[in-house]
Amino acid sequence: MGRLEGKVAIITGGARGQGEIEARMFVREGAAVAICDVLDEPGEAVAKSIQAEGGEARYFHLDVTQQADWERVVGEVVKWKGRLTTLVNNAGILNRTGTIGTPLDHWNRVLAVNLTGAFLGLQTTAPAMRESGGGAVVNIASVAAHAGHNDPAYSSTKAGLLGLTRSAAMEFIDWNIRVNAICPGIIVTGLNAGGAHLEPWRRGTPMGRYGTIEEAANVVLFLASDEASFITGEDIAVDGGFKAGGAARRISIEAGIDLTASPAR
Ligand SMILES: NC(=O)c1ccc[n+]([C@@H]2O[C@H](COP(=O)([O-])OP(=O)(O)OC[C@H]3O[C@@H](n4cnc5c(N)ncnc54)[C@H](O)[C@@H]3O)[C@@H](O)[C@H]2O)c1
Repeated sequence: MGRLEGKVAIITGGARGQGEIEARMFVREGAAVAICDVLDEPGEAVAKSIQAEGGEARYFHLDVTQQADWERVVGEVVKWKGRLTTLVNNAGILNRTGTIGTPLDHWNRVLAVNLTGAFLGLQTTAPAMRESGGGAVVNIASVAAHAGHNDPAYSSTKAGLLGLTRSAAMEFIDWNIRVNAICPGIIVTGLNAGGAHLEPWRRGTPMGRYGTIEEAANVVLFLASDEASFITGEDIAVDGGFKAGGAARRISIEAGIDLTASPAR
């Protein structure tokens, strides 16, 4: 029996990166997955390759900023599987420009995809989950929600996602819908591959390495499953210790302080 047996999930940004691996893991654990994205060819290809392995997945074109897309896709998924139990708000974008260098349309676009998209997702899927007896939502935030980022729009949306997570968790508690978030640290994907910031960020991560897509997806899977049945409104860092004290650890290293040295006798 899979850990997500009987679940029907919508995963946004499912055509590549973390969303693709979440989709593959969810299916392996017994879920039927609607892979949603604006990248139609790669999205179709992921769905086909899951089907070829005997899994239940379909691709749906869904621009998370478009309310009409959400309404259409939620309707089609419910028609397909008769229910909807799970939403992963994973689609996300970023620029790497500071406040002075960010044109207003870039700011608005990041807010629309990362934050408004998740809001629209909650708004359109929650009634269907209620009809299905309840469900779980996982919002993909970031360490940037806690620590700031070189894209102010990105960190604003990720911090906003935590506010949305807590508010929605309280709002939908009587509908038996749990709403949680994860805050990944640095994971190399299409979002950031080749970025000059990667290596410094790896060094600033207490574990001294990048996270893997699977390490983040494992936590998403847990929060989406009934194993997390008493957890709602929570966010879990998946960041190799970055939020816990990446700065303090870096300072110790630069200052030559060996925190694991034997005590003086
Ligand atoms: N990679 C990291 O280091 C990292 C760290 C923390 C958080 N995150 C978050 O994880 C999530 C997944 O990112 P990733 O690293 O897999 O990046 P990615 O760029 O590989 O995947 C993001 C996906 O979102 C899709 N997308 C973009 N705009 C969309 C829209 N309007 N509608 C629907 N889909 C859209 C893209 O087409 C893409 O498939 C994002 O929310 C990102 O902010 C990533």
